[in-house]
Amino acid sequence: MAEEAVLGYLENNDQIIDSGEFASQRGIDHNEIVNTIKSLHGFRYVDAEDIKRETWVLTDEGNTYTTMGSPEAQLILAIPPQGISREQLQKMLGPSVFKIGCAQAAKNKWVEMGKHLISKKVQHVEDRVKNLLLLIQQGQGIGPDDIKALKARKLIVPQTWKCYSVKKGPNFAPKRKKVVTDLTRDNFQSGEWKEIEFKEYNYSAKGQPLEGGSLHPLLKVRCQIKQIFHCMGFEEMPTNNYVESSFWNFDSLFQPQQHPARDSHDTFFLEAPSTTKKLPEDYVQRVKKVHEFGGYESRGYTYDWKREEANKNLLRTHTTAVSSRMLYQLAQKPFVPKKYFSIDRVFRNEAVDRTHLAEFHQIEGLVCDRGLTLCDLIGVLHDFFSRLGMTKLKFKPAYNPYTEPSMEIFSYHEGFKKWVEVGNSGMFRPEMLRPMGLPEDVQVIAWGLSLERPTMIMYGIDNIRDLFGHKVDLGLIKKNSICRLGIEVK
Ligand code: PHE
Repeated sequence: MAEEAVLGYLENNDQIIDSGEFASQRGIDHNEIVNTIKSLHGFRYVDAEDIKRETWVLTDEGNTYTTMGSPEAQLILAIPPQGISREQLQKMLGPSVFKIGCAQAAKNKWVEMGKHLISKKVQHVEDRVKNLLLLIQQGQGIGPDDIKALKARKLIVPQTWKCYSVKKGPNFAPKRKKVVTDLTRDNFQSGEWKEIEFKEYNYSAKGQPLEGGSLHPLLKVRCQIKQIFHCMGFEEMPTNNYVESSFWNFDSLFQPQQHPARDSHDTFFLEAPSTTKKLPEDYVQRVKKVHEFGGYESRGYTYDWKREEANKNLLRTHTTAVSSRMLYQLAQKPFVPKKYFSIDRVFRNEAVDRTHLAEFHQIEGLVCDRGLTLCDLIGVLHDFFSRLGMTKLKFKPAYNPYTEPSMEIFSYHEGFKKWVEVGNSGMFRPEMLRPMGLPEDVQVIAWGLSLERPTMIMYGIDNIRDLFGHKVDLGLIKKNSICRLGIEVK
């Protein structure tokens, strides 16, 4: 009905000046007319232009006065010929109508406000306010002074009204042609295909979004970093054990048993099974010895090393536990140089905030060969980080129980215009490597960083809880850009 009205009108007239008026003259809902105009506009049957019109509508208060009369008129009607006391009049009208009524009636000089009595100065009044409100309610215009007065009394408020002016478009026809989207067998058989008009292809229309599995940004970045390691000739270490013994997580790494990181405030210990079943006994003895008395030119920590402490199971706090296991295995055979990496989850008993969770992913790389020096470490770090797009690096001396020397790694972030910490590194200590049985001239250079940090920077996420955990918006997982890391190496 709306479509017939619009097309029919335009067939005989140049323009629909105002869709709002057009709709109300025909008793059609304006929304329906607007939808029709939009659809016809899409097929270029019509050209439409926005017009904004300001209209006035009654407030709730304005609406009540259209039935009850304005307060000043109510007041006049309530005053008897001999006058009335303020108290009595207020009781009759209620405080609000009384107050407004008095003010307006006095302004209109309709009443005499005596000290005790209120009396009428006029016998008959015309309720102009009510009449004006009724006009507005019927959609009729009133003069600007009246608008101003009613607006000041908060009886009306403006409302913008959006409508359209409509003209014939380039494809105008008095009736919409049915366009066909598919050619059918019937069309062929009946010969209809010669006559029918087909809908044009819309090459810029978006396709249906595909519902399928999608990769989380962390997985995408992990995949690219894996490739970078592979390109550099590194092998992946097996990291499929979240549960680790304190021995591999700490003791084998020459981390003393009193170290604060071994406290339950920092580490999650397991209740069941609370201890590990098997450790390589002769190696355990050498680790005990190096902690207690040193060796290999070290004095050790000189304390009583306890087996029970080493047996305690925990959720690994770093993937260096895996590196330690791998180096031990390497030491059991004739020495061959190795380049290893891992990327997997670690756990720390930490207070959760916008940059920390109790679990995250570590990226770790190590090179094990004869005669390696700190220069080799710096060289490998430059190679690795430049493939992540970080070409400006700085190093700061640091401390790890298992590395000496140790260096924190900083990279200059061109966007943030500052140096940001991107990782930690060092050369594994002889106190760690010698008890494993690695030859004396074998050194291991290693580094570690989190996967979350570069992912957050790359994907512009500043709260880790938006990236990982139960508060993550599934939309982010469904729709995120590809990770270009390692794709554009300069
Ligand atoms: N394990 C260290 C950490 O948790 C990272 C690291 C790995 C440091 C290897 C030095 C060498 O931060």
